[in-house]
Amino acid sequence: MENEFKYEDYKKTADWLLSRTKHQPEIAVICGSGLGALAERLNQPQAFDYSDIPNFPQSTVPGHAGRLVFGYLNDKCCVMMQGRFHSYEGYPLWKVAFPVRVFRLMNIHTLIVTNAAGGLNPDYEVGDVMLIRDHIFLAGLSGNNPLRGPNDERFGERFPPMSDAYDRVLRQDAHFIWKQMDQERPLQEGTYVMVGGPNFETIAECRFLQRLGADAVGMSTVPEVIVARHCGLRVFGFSLITNKSVLDYESREKANHEEVLLAGRLAAEKLEQLVCLLVESMQPPSKNTF
Ligand code: HPA
Repeated sequence: MENEFKYEDYKKTADWLLSRTKHQPEIAVICGSGLGALAERLNQPQAFDYSDIPNFPQSTVPGHAGRLVFGYLNDKCCVMMQGRFHSYEGYPLWKVAFPVRVFRLMNIHTLIVTNAAGGLNPDYEVGDVMLIRDHIFLAGLSGNNPLRGPNDERFGERFPPMSDAYDRVLRQDAHFIWKQMDQERPLQEGTYVMVGGPNFETIAECRFLQRLGADAVGMSTVPEVIVARHCGLRVFGFSLITNKSVLDYESREKANHEEVLLAGRLAAEKLEQLVCLLVESMQPPSKNTF
């Protein structure tokens, strides 16, 4: 489905928000399933329910609060989405990524995306954190893309590259910070594959995704990243491995949403620490393409 919103609709939402807050955020964070507690760490918080924001979609998933929270992490002004939008809720992909262009028009330079994901890589354990180095966008490869339809050059070019979607320097910084955090488990780094959901994958599908070269599988994130890169935002992202994908017909394991939320709660502290330290040390990108 093609984008029904024009540049002016995004601008209206950005101006609506900016005129109601004294905050001028430079970094946006999208909190994935069970990871919304990050927003509780913001100082001087100011929250807006999605239902009050013009043009904003509504979040319908348990574990996603549906609030946009402005505030400070140390001296850095941020805005955090407590709850995101998914294709499986019935939203077209351009709508899933709607907030990202609003962030761009609010002059944000960096987007941090987080999600819960199943671990396809046999070395991954539940509770591991995987930096996203690259993604595989199954829906996009077959023609369902948030950028489908007429291109508005005010946001970005018709054919944006994606080979450098996940910022290399921020990934290096994250590894450095992780070492200082003195964790038992290594910080993983790998490829995220997005599937449509809402059902979890079959065993044959997990084997297929693993053979494609994916390390983790989830139902989100990629549409937001594509729209962010299209409009020149710097992107950093990570997955929390909340379950191990079932790859073996002998296994009696079954993925479920409760274990995803539980793993999020158990890992919350280290994830919050990672994001806080990363944001604290973050410098604006040297070249701003917008
Ligand atoms: N598959 C897809 N999405 C997910 C999973 C999974 O195993 N775990 C958390 N989100």
